[in-house]
Amino acid sequence: MVRTKSKTPPYLGENLSQIKKLGLQNNINDLEIDGFTIIPPKKVASTQFLNKMRKTVLRICQERTGKKFDLNKNGQIGKYKAQPQTDSQFLLYYLLMADPIFEKWLLNPTLNAMMDYLMKGTQQLSSMTSFIKWQGEGYGETLGLHSDTRPSTPEGLIPNSWFDVSNSTYCLTDYTKENGAMAMVPGSHRLYRQPKPGEGVDKAVPVEAKAGSLIIFNGGIWHGAFPKKTEGLRLNVTSYFCHRKLKTQEAYQWRVTKEMLDRNPPKFAKLVGADDEYGWDAKGPDYSRPLKYL
Ligand SMILES: [Fe+2]
Repeated sequence: MVRTKSKTPPYLGENLSQIKKLGLQNNINDLEIDGFTIIPPKKVASTQFLNKMRKTVLRICQERTGKKFDLNKNGQIGKYKAQPQTDSQFLLYYLLMADPIFEKWLLNPTLNAMMDYLMKGTQQLSSMTSFIKWQGEGYGETLGLHSDTRPSTPEGLIPNSWFDVSNSTYCLTDYTKENGAMAMVPGSHRLYRQPKPGEGVDKAVPVEAKAGSLIIFNGGIWHGAFPKKTEGLRLNVTSYFCHRKLKTQEAYQWRVTKEMLDRNPPKFAKLVGADDEYGWDAKGPDYSRPLKYL
């Protein structure tokens, strides 16, 4: 029998073999069916990396708030006025520019294999933030349920753009319902709309995961978080991706430094849009950029 060559497009083939190599096939199933998946710590990064990441986030908390942060104690907003804030949470923004460890995270093989699958390689980083959360009411009874896709019409749906965003949460502490885990409504990514106020709360499940786990979720899934009932901090690093045709939440394209681009592989430039000559000034487009970082 004559064997014919595989018809799998090269890009897709590469992504699928990476998924197999990393043992993520079941996570792909979860994503398709439920709209989210939890990848265990051993398939994500080393314990050493996790510890370093946690330490770095706590250091930035202190730098920005002027208050000392301890995993076992509740936090304080201090001088940091970032939005959105609840009584028991704030976000640290623009982490990619805050420490090289976040560049490393952006290139994490597991994160990339999953995002390449979800976004078919069209993605760029939209924002990298940390939700610093402690004991309190949080989002209250509605759990803050929403989908991350940006609606442009009152009806909520932008044709053909429902899957132009995907999100991920790297858990830096254990996630349990009691300590304020994320809430997800399984299968809601197939409804292609935002929830109405209060809708989906009765179907929301806690996403319980060990520190070091990576939660990957479809941009269309309804999600939020349970209030944190226990003392201490719940920490994460949230990396949100969007299609290259969309504007990013945080500004990277022209703000990433030459050093950042030079010390990382071409994939990094692609993920921060620095390989795209559009967005020029009086000097006009610099066509060497896309060539340089291909
Ligand atoms: Fe969200």
